[in-house]
Amino acid sequence: MRYKSFLTKHKQTQKCYPRHIAIIMDGNRRWAEKKGKMRIIGHQEGFKALKKAVRFSILKNLEILTVYAFSSENWNRPIFEIQYLMKLFSFMLENEMNNFKKYNIKFKVMGDITLFNKELQNNIHQAEKLTLNNNGLILNIAANYGGRWDIIQSVKKIINKVQKGILNVNDVTEDTFSKCLSTHQLLPVDLVIRTGGEKRISNFLLWQIAYSELYFTDILWPDFNQYVFQDAIDFFISRERRFGGF
Ligand code: FPP
Repeated sequence: MRYKSFLTKHKQTQKCYPRHIAIIMDGNRRWAEKKGKMRIIGHQEGFKALKKAVRFSILKNLEILTVYAFSSENWNRPIFEIQYLMKLFSFMLENEMNNFKKYNIKFKVMGDITLFNKELQNNIHQAEKLTLNNNGLILNIAANYGGRWDIIQSVKKIINKVQKGILNVNDVTEDTFSKCLSTHQLLPVDLVIRTGGEKRISNFLLWQIAYSELYFTDILWPDFNQYVFQDAIDFFISRERRFGGF
């Protein structure tokens, strides 16, 4: 009897609100094709949907929104499309700084940005620096990011520390490893949302989503709105998170 009531109580306390949501914003090109528009228009509308998602995250007091904006594999796309995505990124940095300030958003980028042009790299560093002390929503953009890349760069950091004698190989734990990942300053990812109908992770966060809830929707990213976002949050709240326990 006592065990049963403990179980019920435990289950109830597991129902909580997500603090960190990560989104795979998929379906921009299909959205454009369906409407008979150029693919880049899909990305343009995708950018608008991202702004909506940020507004909704603030409204819902979410702590971290991580979005997959450009994967390591996206370099295989036509050069024109890549250039357009870079332009959108630059546009965001030039035009959204006021909003970052107004809404107290901390802007962060994770991924290997050394392959971006120097101006974009500088603008990213500048935006991160200018918003460093903001303590509202953390908007974390995954750009030239890959989950495998993240794991490899963490492994390299660990090896470096071991070689320098800063770390003993027997002291390498999940915790020391996590601290070398791009997400080391962030809370664990509670919920991953993927739009566009595919049910896969596509080399997004890999290590980090070991215990995350996964929500897939057929909605194409440019059509993403507060109702879909709320559905995903409701799905999360309804889940019973056991983290490998009973
Ligand atoms: C996936 O849809 C989307 C992308 C590869 C790019 C995401 C970019 C944005 C939402 C634009 C704004 C973002 C920033 C940070 C400037 P897809 O092109 O793979 O579409 P498909 O699945 O229909 O082919």
